[in-house]
Amino acid sequence: MGNNNIIIKLEEISKDYDLGEVVVKALKKSNLQMRKGEVALLMGPSGAGKTTLLSIMGLLLRPTTGKIYFADKIYDKKTRQKILTDTRRKSIGFIFQAFNLVKSLTVIQNVEIMYKIGQLEKAGYKDKCKEILDMLNMGHRLDHLPKNLSGGERQRVAIARALINDPELIMADEPTGNLDSENGKIIGEYFQQIAKERGTTILIATHDDRLKFCSDRIIRMEDGNILNHEHSRIKDE
Ligand SMILES: Nc1ncnc2c1ncn2[C@@H]1O[C@H](COP(=O)(O)OP(=O)(O)OP(=O)(O)O)[C@@H](O)[C@H]1O
Ligand SMILES: [Mg+2]
Repeated sequence: MGNNNIIIKLEEISKDYDLGEVVVKALKKSNLQMRKGEVALLMGPSGAGKTTLLSIMGLLLRPTTGKIYFADKIYDKKTRQKILTDTRRKSIGFIFQAFNLVKSLTVIQNVEIMYKIGQLEKAGYKDKCKEILDMLNMGHRLDHLPKNLSGGERQRVAIARALINDPELIMADEPTGNLDSENGKIIGEYFQQIAKERGTTILIATHDDRLKFCSDRIIRMEDGNILNHEHSRIKDE
């Protein structure tokens, strides 16, 4: 794309869930772009289409119509699965409502396997996994299995997994939903930090007003529509 540091752009994206008897129009002809290093909150009522938008933007789900421009390529409803998966593994981190931790692996192992999945350099990765878990206040639970963790602790492991590969783009669905305010603040500060230092672009679907401090913009959704998508600074709101 090359202009204004836009890293991802959605053009006329819609998503219909076809349930046979009914078709749910979860997303209606939406346009959105985000800059490198931008942190945005995606807010709106339950059922507005936030998770659907994150899934399409993160190449987990194909749109019914429209195009996604990301990393110099174009993705649409016809893009092959392997291409979607490869791009996702290399460049996108997900923090989703379902934690997706591997039940038989410990906390540290759950983070370490992300290196295999992303086919990354092995050198120093164990230290890096520990470091990130420490930062998320999970250093004392490295050898626990997911079943022996609280909901908020599991969520922090899921966050460590999403961040460990240094993705260019992070899609976070209610990342602070299970967290107390102290740990919620740590996550927000970390998002801010990696956006600034590494240019990571982060979209956070949330009902949590407390995350406003870490974001450059609020994108509002209602009934499958993005209400405003201009680049507004909201820092002094
Ligand atoms: N797999 C699916 N099949 C059919 N309909 C779906 C599916 N997933 C979501 N929907 C419908 O699409 C609409 C948007 O759902 P979505 O999950 O994107 O909303 P949301 O904004 O994330 O809501 P919440 O705040 O409750 O998480 C809703 O009407 C929902 O019922
Ligand atoms: Mg949702």
